[in-house]
Formats: sequence, structure tokens, C-alpha cells
Amino acid sequence: MNIEGQTVVILGGKTGLLGQALVKAFADAGAHPVPLSSADCDILDPLAVEIRLDKEDADILVNAAAYTQVDLAEDEEDKAFALNATAPPLLASLAARRAIPFIHYSTDFVFNGEKHTPYTEYDETSAFSAYGISKADGERGLLKLGYDRTLIVRISWLFGPGRINFVEKILSLCDDRNRLTVVNDQIGSPSYAPDIAMNTVKLIEKDATGIYHLANTGETSWHGLANTAVSLAGKDCIVAPVPTSEYPTKAVRPAYSVLDLSKFIRKTGVTPRTWEEALKEYVLIELGLQQKK
Ligand SMILES: NC(=O)c1ccc[n+]([C@@H]2O[C@H](COP(=O)([O-])OP(=O)(O)OC[C@H]3O[C@@H](n4cnc5c(N)ncnc54)[C@H](OP(=O)(O)O)[C@@H]3O)[C@@H](O)[C@H]2O)c1
Repeated sequence: MNIEGQTVVILGGKTGLLGQALVKAFADAGAHPVPLSSADCDILDPLAVEIRLDKEDADILVNAAAYTQVDLAEDEEDKAFALNATAPPLLASLAARRAIPFIHYSTDFVFNGEKHTPYTEYDETSAFSAYGISKADGERGLLKLGYDRTLIVRISWLFGPGRINFVEKILSLCDDRNRLTVVNDQIGSPSYAPDIAMNTVKLIEKDATGIYHLANTGETSWHGLANTAVSLAGKDCIVAPVPTSEYPTKAVRPAYSVLDLSKFIRKTGVTPRTWEEALKEYVLIELGLQQKK
């Protein structure tokens, strides 16, 4: 599909971490992005979304809206399931009525983390947090609906400009403390939101449908990600590794959730850059932080 000149309605595009990056990536590709917030259009109100799609005369519908508070989801299951499980197939059916592509995002947290090699699109989902189960239910709902222009992109460990995220949190904590502890026994693939957005455009250009895994290449722990960011930024702060048992959270997270990117690479011919390269751009250029000499 030629993206140029297409009107792309982006749910979550005004305030979301990924949504804002998508707005820029579609604009860079010559499309006409229409970013929407929940105040513009509530994804729990399909009629409101339908009216908006008609008004904008949308050519592509992208759902970057979701319930993303992993720990809070344990106490707010109803909200998480409404946004992450019930809404996506309803949105896809609106795209189907217009016969336009529907792009949706899911997460590495649909896996339980018991593997020791990267998860492929063919691995069974087996989430155990309320957030992960709600996202897996959303995927299942989309597959059951069976709209053939649906693309589900599973991503992981998102960071980037536009909204507070793990990397920014760590760097701002360093302004007040000289020592932090971060878990080193959860391993995953960090994803830079602008890279995910640009590579989503590449998938759409190739008419990709079904499920694709997407992240930056390489893998690390939360400790590895934090430590690299702190050292890039030249912050005077020790980042000490701790096991998950010393940092209990309400939601249980997978110990290993690295995503296998080979299906994406085969489809697009593009190999995403490493998470270290992307992090360097984020810390040094986007956040404007510099290593001390
Ligand atoms: N962040 C991660 O580490 C991560 C990892 C893996 C997968 N993902 C997936 O990637 C996607 C994007 O995540 P993100 O981190 O970019 O999300 P985010 O920054 O938390 O943004 C979520 C967006 O959802 C919108 N939203 C919430 N309720 C809504 C409603 N009822 N109607 C319309 N919009 C609503 C919010 O808009 P308002 O502010 O206007 O309410 C917000 O822009 C999600 O599918 C998420 O599950 C994220």
C-alpha cells in the first residue's frame, strides 16, 4: 500500500507514547495523520469512533490506545479488559465496514516468560498478569473476528519522547539519589517508540497482516537498560542489580520475553537498529543529556 496522501486516524495519537511517534512517522512518510485523544473519541464508544472515521474519511485506522498500567490492572481488571480486550474487535469491525487496514498493538507480556529463546509469532500466549491476559484476549478477539486487513504488532519495553517512561524515570530519579536498585533477572527487548512507528509504516507499505513481533535488536535486563541510560547521560549515580524477589510488584512480569524479529525482517527487508543505538539517540539527542568529559 502506498502510504502517501492517506488519512490515518490514530487513536491514542495525542498523548500516547507510541501514538505520538506514529503521528510523526506517518507525517514523515507523506500521509495525513489525525491524532485523537480519549476526549476526542472514546474507544469504548464505537458509534463515536464510527462518526469520527466517516468525518475524517479515514483510509487507515491505527489503535495505539490501551489500558497500559500493568500493576494497576490487577485492581482495575474491568477497565483493562474493556479497553484491551473488548474494544479492539469492535474497532476492527468499524475498519472492516470501511474496508480499510486496521493496525493494533500488543505486548510481550502475553507470554509467561518460561522460554529461554526469543518468542516467535507461532508461540502460544500464556499471560499471567491481568494486563497480559487482557491484551491476549484482545488479540484472540481480533483473530476470531477474522478481518483480513488486520495487523497486530507485538512490541516490548517501550521508551521514547512524549510521555514519561522507564528510561526517563530512571534518569530523573538519579537527580535526587546517588544509588538506585533495578532488577536484573527479567530479560527483554527494549523498543524505541520512533523506531517502532517507522517500522510499522514499513509493514503497512508491504501490506502485512496477522501478527508481527517488533522491537529494537538485542536484549537486556531492566538493570542493563537503566545502567546504560545512566552512563550515557553521565549521571553520577550507581545502578545496582537486584533480583525480582527484592523488588516485588503487584503484577508478575515474565522473566524472559525477548521477541524474535525474523518474520518482520523477512517481510520488510529491514533489520531494526540495536536498542543501544536507539537509546543513545534518545538520551543524547532527544533528552539533550551529555556524558561528562
Ligand atoms: N509502554 C510499553 O512499554 C508497552 C510495551 C508493550 C506493548 N505496549 C502496547 O503499545 C500500545 C501503546 O502503548 P503506550 O505505552 O504508547 O500507551 P500510553 O502511552 O499509555 O497511551 C495510551 C493511550 O490510550 C489512550 N486512551 C486511554 N483510554 C482511552 C479511551 N477510552 N479512548 C480513547 N483513547 C484512550 C490515552 O489517551 P488519553 O490520554 O487521551 O486518555 C493514551 O494516549 C498499547 O497497545 C500497549 O499495550 C506498550
